[in-house]
Amino acid sequence: MTKKIVLAISGSLRKPSFTEKMLDLCIEGMGEDIEVKKFYPHKMKIEPCNSCWSCWGKKNPGVCARKDDFQEILDVYKQADYFLLAAPLYIFSFPATVKNVIDRFFILLEPAQVKSSRGYSEHPKRFGSHPKTVLISSCGFPEVENFYLLRQYFRKISDEMGWTWSGEIVISASGVANAPKLFDRKYELIKKAGAELVEGRISKETTDEIAKPVMSSEDYRKMATASFSGGMIDKIKTVSIAMKAIMEANKNS
Ligand SMILES: Cc1cc2nc3c(=O)[nH]c(=O)nc-3n(C[C@H](O)[C@H](O)[C@H](O)COP(=O)(O)O)c2cc1C
Repeated sequence: MTKKIVLAISGSLRKPSFTEKMLDLCIEGMGEDIEVKKFYPHKMKIEPCNSCWSCWGKKNPGVCARKDDFQEILDVYKQADYFLLAAPLYIFSFPATVKNVIDRFFILLEPAQVKSSRGYSEHPKRFGSHPKTVLISSCGFPEVENFYLLRQYFRKISDEMGWTWSGEIVISASGVANAPKLFDRKYELIKKAGAELVEGRISKETTDEIAKPVMSSEDYRKMATASFSGGMIDKIKTVSIAMKAIMEANKNS
């Protein structure tokens, strides 16, 4: 059986990256019948699109004038069955290095403007590739609403690029990710999401379960604030709030 190709973008510049952990769990849940090609945009030489329009010209349609590492991503994209776009929330959007890759996907679009099935204007797509696409993200504020713009944007670009939107995996309050066992249930659910993706798409129920808060926003704010101040009392405060959340989680499991 030929393996399905997964194009995975790991967009965090931090090491270790919590968002990459989420990406890897999703991949794990997708099982054995996949071949994963993972890219780290910030480690690659990828110039920004300079709007030269040569990919829209008659001479070399669909060919980028920039000869850099984006070509590696594009080559995988053309064969990909799945496209997992994993990136932390940076100022309510994608990190610049990831946005840069998204802009370079301009090459997927043909110059004509036509009416889309939703009644808006769109460009026809090149290469006939329509991978199933999933957004994976984490953020440092406690409320899942912080992903609102990113989720909207991801859906919009999925429509525009011809990607088959197939789900979202988002986790807020990533500042408590290291508290022992607190996110264990989320990790199992992310693997479940990966399995669901292979079967079709990630269900809303699983997305919502993964995104459920593990503590009150009030407690999280106190904890996050204390954890950055560095004093002994604040350290104790951080640990005791995390312990409270762990005990709550144990009670509910
Ligand atoms: C430059 C920068 C911008 C950020 N912007 C936001 C933001 O707008 N909202 C938010 O909730 N967290 C924000 N964060 C926090 C990260 O999204 C959060 O720590 C994330 O879980 C980091 O994931 P990683 O470990 O994969 O890098 C920001 C962090 C950085 C460094």
